[in-house]
Amino acid sequence: MSFKRIVVGGVAGVLMLALGACGSADQASAPSQSVGGASSTEPGRELKMSTNQTEDHPNNVALMNLADRMRERTDGRINIVVYANAVLGAQTDSMASLQEGVIDLASLSAPQLVNLNPDFQVLDLPLVFDSIEHQMKALNDPELMGELYSSLEDKNMVVTGAYTQGSRNVYNTTRPVVTPDDMKGMKIRVQETDMQVKMVEAMGGVASPMAFGEVYSALQTGVIDGAENNEASYITMKHNEVAKYYSYTRHLIGADMTVVSAKVYNSWSDEDKEIWQEEFLASVDEFNELWDAKIKDATEQTKAAGSQFNEVDADAFRAVLAPVTEAALVTENQKALYKAFRDLA
Ligand code: GCU
Repeated sequence: MSFKRIVVGGVAGVLMLALGACGSADQASAPSQSVGGASSTEPGRELKMSTNQTEDHPNNVALMNLADRMRERTDGRINIVVYANAVLGAQTDSMASLQEGVIDLASLSAPQLVNLNPDFQVLDLPLVFDSIEHQMKALNDPELMGELYSSLEDKNMVVTGAYTQGSRNVYNTTRPVVTPDDMKGMKIRVQETDMQVKMVEAMGGVASPMAFGEVYSALQTGVIDGAENNEASYITMKHNEVAKYYSYTRHLIGADMTVVSAKVYNSWSDEDKEIWQEEFLASVDEFNELWDAKIKDATEQTKAAGSQFNEVDADAFRAVLAPVTEAALVTENQKALYKAFRDLA
């Protein structure tokens, strides 16, 4: 399977400075007219934010609280309304709507952005981050990430930071996975990028890319045998009801990127941009606390409901995953970013 890739040139500079200096609203590529007047930059207008998580997922809770604090601190000038459960569309659709100016913000899994700028691939590779702390330190460092995060401006997108997805693990309907051999022939759902396909193939499985919201019924009807995700999504999406075997492959620490329409972002005053950055960083701390509690709770609850958790042969998985990461680091930018991430380990 191949995905459309568009290489986008970067804008140099520190995130705050780079984003602050990214030019005026009319440089952005959103159409002047769009559904519901969403391209308007009028202060106080409802800014629609799309997430694909349930209301009780930490991602959604942290973003709703962030929206509240933004409304308060800007006297309603920045009025974000978060729409959960993918009601504004699955992530690929939300990304298109954001580019078209139909919606204003979205929480997008890092692999979605790889299809717009391959440098984002480094954020979504096995064996890059050693821990959530390591990942968050890297991905919310404005000096390190500013250039990449402002590289999608001509797609009307500005990335403003990241929440963790924690370690992603394989779960399935048939048996515990301990070694890559156990995944032979297993059809595993992945997110929609080439690397995710290669990753699951290297782990021994057969990859099936599909939207997050389709996974439950695909598991239930046997279209797929398993999926890979964190314990939070395992329970909030009720995948535990249909896939009982959860194996700690810890193949990837994923990230969810908070993306704002460039047209909207560039319409904010410098002061409002600063408030956003400040409140976003505060929301990362809040998210991390919610996250730890959610993982603990999800594990306990799914266990009580009959799920079986097991450790895997970590060395065996590491051995098949290392070549995937190596092969994915192709461009100079990708190699430099990977080195910078590893230097922070
Ligand atoms: C996680 C992540 C989502 C992503 C999902 C997926 O839940 O937080 O952003 O869409 O995984 O596997 O698609």
